[in-house]
Amino acid sequence: MSRLDPHSYFDTEQPHPQHLLLRLSVDFDRHQIQGQVTFQFDAETAGHLDLDTKGLTIQSVQTEAGKPVPFELGPEEPILGRRLRLELPAGTRQLQVAYTTSPEAVALQWLTPAQTEGKRHPFLFSQCQAIHARTMIPLQDSPRVRTSYTAEVTIPAALAAVMSAGPAGTRPGPTAGTRTFVFEMPQPIPAYLIALAVGNLESRDLSPRSRVWAEPETVEAAAWEFAGVEETILKAEALFGPYEWQRYDMLVLPPSFPYGGMENPRMTFLTPTVLAGDRSLVDVVTHELAHSWTGNLVTNASMDHFWLNEGFTVWAERRILEALHDSASAVISWAIGQNALDESIERFGADSPLTLLRTDLRGVDPDDAFSSIPYEKGARFVTLIERTVGRERFDRFMRNYMDRFRFTSITTEEFLDFLEQKLPGTAGRIEADRWLHQPGMPPNAPVFRSAALEELTTLARGWESGARPTQDQLRRWSPNELLVYLQHLPRQLDRASCAWLDSNLKLTSRGNYEILVEWLTIAAGSDYEATFERIQQVLSRVGRMKYLRPLYTALGKHPRTRALAREIFAAVGPSYHNLSRRVVESIQEQYHD
Ligand code: BES
Ligand code: ZN
Repeated sequence: MSRLDPHSYFDTEQPHPQHLLLRLSVDFDRHQIQGQVTFQFDAETAGHLDLDTKGLTIQSVQTEAGKPVPFELGPEEPILGRRLRLELPAGTRQLQVAYTTSPEAVALQWLTPAQTEGKRHPFLFSQCQAIHARTMIPLQDSPRVRTSYTAEVTIPAALAAVMSAGPAGTRPGPTAGTRTFVFEMPQPIPAYLIALAVGNLESRDLSPRSRVWAEPETVEAAAWEFAGVEETILKAEALFGPYEWQRYDMLVLPPSFPYGGMENPRMTFLTPTVLAGDRSLVDVVTHELAHSWTGNLVTNASMDHFWLNEGFTVWAERRILEALHDSASAVISWAIGQNALDESIERFGADSPLTLLRTDLRGVDPDDAFSSIPYEKGARFVTLIERTVGRERFDRFMRNYMDRFRFTSITTEEFLDFLEQKLPGTAGRIEADRWLHQPGMPPNAPVFRSAALEELTTLARGWESGARPTQDQLRRWSPNELLVYLQHLPRQLDRASCAWLDSNLKLTSRGNYEILVEWLTIAAGSDYEATFERIQQVLSRVGRMKYLRPLYTALGKHPRTRALAREIFAAVGPSYHNLSRRVVESIQEQYHD
């Protein structure tokens, strides 16, 4: 027996299928998917096959010929769920499992019409990363396992379905009022990249290989916001090689989506909070697009190597940004990242094992370990290698790396071996071991500076001594520059200061959620009543954890704002995504009173 992934029952000595055939029937009344998954093996197999499941009811397991296959569901383990052990008879080439999902499946959020923009139709979306695919499909839910898939998804005929796959037609469904959407994902992908969304969806073409999907009420705004996507793909291709996934489509979800974006192949999922109305938040798209190389082509072998996905992707995102704009705007992005990194290190403690790049998450839920550390410490580590060997050599190394490991899943140790082979001595020179295996930030972390950044931070740090931005500065600043300024202001201000900021910077009415939430976090921490209504609106509408965390944390600082936070959460908590609800619950447990 060889289980290498702390978050999966996947056994490397057991067979794994090359292809999955999914037949999913989406039941909005029961909040349930009735599923049939067929595992297709390249060769005849036999013996044990251990799958991951969580909350699934297994109805039957049979071979191609319809012969029942013995199965056993193990005890419920809080993080992993239940192991489903199948006994494959000799000569098995295909195997079919029929099952239903639980209404509580973490991967799935079922929205009422009221939670959508259009208010007339329900909506369903999935979010499988890190280890929630097993609540939607019984499978080997470890990124070490890659399979291609075909899916046939039956939904109410008035709605449309999209998946992390290519569209392969639709046909009338098996019962009246239903329609079946067919999808084909020919490239082998890990289970966490399987994704499905169902709703009243329309699309707009942005380029021959890219379109955006959204509810009809938001699709025009989305098409405008993301009009530049083809240019971004071209810049990314120039840096990292041809885009391998044929299409790059995007889906804008309802606001309860718990993340900013999710790199589902061929169909990036996005929060509607990126629709700022001025294209100032399209970096999220750049990030998810960059995962098409770092993450989706070369994948972390388990969540212990998550920095390989996110660290490289943040680095790639900022390289694309630099190519699209200039290095000055990349420096501003690095500063925003530094702020997130500092916050994460402070939240866990500088000596916490969760601040390592190479983690050991045995017994730890990846959702609890999530932070900016793999992103920002990871990206700084990659930049340190880049600066040490020079950009030209590093770019060649990255091309080699992606060629060598394309469509595979690798560990930190495999990366290090490859680094040593291609750029010998580099790891030693930069003390790579310290970056990977020691907590906190190493002293040789790269520094990102510019005159503009200096101006912003100096001005913000001078707030208490009366320094204020001039009208000219305010006009000149980009949205990201304003964000950096706000991030460097004191976390608690008096009423007059709050009023000055809001009236001069028009913060409460901002459409850029990064700026809006940064401001509301200061205002909440300052007990500034004029913003309470806006805070309530934001917390009632948006489920993105990146925004819920600072807002609910700041509201915890004063008795009056704590009461407000509890009142809001009591009213809207039940309709939050499972993941968002858990984050808010853990924050409110820390409120002292
Ligand atoms: N893959 C992540 C989202 C994720 C990570 C979901 C871990 C579940 C578990 C995605 O690429 C991401 O990093 N999103 C960021 C975008 C940002 C870095 C531009 C987000 O959601 O904020
Ligand atoms: Zn990412």
